[in-house]
Amino acid sequence: MKTQDLTKHCGTAIEGVQLARLEGEALDRVREIAYRRGVAVFRDQDFGPEDHIAFAKRWGGIDINNYFPLTDEHPEIAVVRKRKDQTMNIGGGWHTDHSYDQVPAMGSILVARDLPPSGGDTLWAHMGAAYDALPDETKAKLELLEAFHTADHIYAPDGIYAKTDQGGELRGKDLKTGATHPVVVRHPQTGQKLLYVNPGFTINFAGRSREESLPLLQELFAHAMKEEFQCRVGWEPGTVAIWDNRTTWHYAMNDYQGHAREMHRITLTGEPLAA
Ligand code: SIN
Repeated sequence: MKTQDLTKHCGTAIEGVQLARLEGEALDRVREIAYRRGVAVFRDQDFGPEDHIAFAKRWGGIDINNYFPLTDEHPEIAVVRKRKDQTMNIGGGWHTDHSYDQVPAMGSILVARDLPPSGGDTLWAHMGAAYDALPDETKAKLELLEAFHTADHIYAPDGIYAKTDQGGELRGKDLKTGATHPVVVRHPQTGQKLLYVNPGFTINFAGRSREESLPLLQELFAHAMKEEFQCRVGWEPGTVAIWDNRTTWHYAMNDYQGHAREMHRITLTGEPLAA
């Protein structure tokens, strides 16, 4: 196994591995890289839907997504699709998958299935590096806070996607979500401190209104989305990315209008988060 870090803080490309056959100590090494670097990227993978599902089960378990289209053959796989006649994509803003669940997903495994001729990259940002770079007085203030996360404003019948050409395909419009997590969590495996608020799903600090929360939330979002904490992956046929949702945010670029893009995502089961 050969590794190459993508940027100082975020992402590692891993060569010499076929995920379809990965197990044992080599799988543990990949897990460790995803936990610490936020995202592990693999090229030239022979990784069909059955391999995808079997690998996710070897990793530890699958959280079925409540919103994205699923296929009858493989209901474990969420289809992240933009047709060529659609203008809105899925995930085109900084977010952390499933932070609105009380037990948030550990991470996701994303496989490129149909790619535009150019564009459609995905960006990740490392929330451990973002936390470490905060001033000490901000860190001390954050240690005492919890924040409320929900997906209702995104997926509800009058939510963000419903107002766009992505609305029709999404499921789960009547679901109600909501979870409260510490603003600074410790990574369950590595113990690293991570900033755990995100622009997609974090609404307010516990005990404070949205209006009272916004100034500090916006300050944290602006800090955490600085380029120095990010890495960027361009997709090719056979590319697979595995990321840790506690360690990172991610952002799917929507810069390929007039072309289709289809990705298959399996979301991996996580554990409760603690300060
Ligand atoms: C997502 O999981 O938010 C989608 C990422 C992507 O399509 O690049």
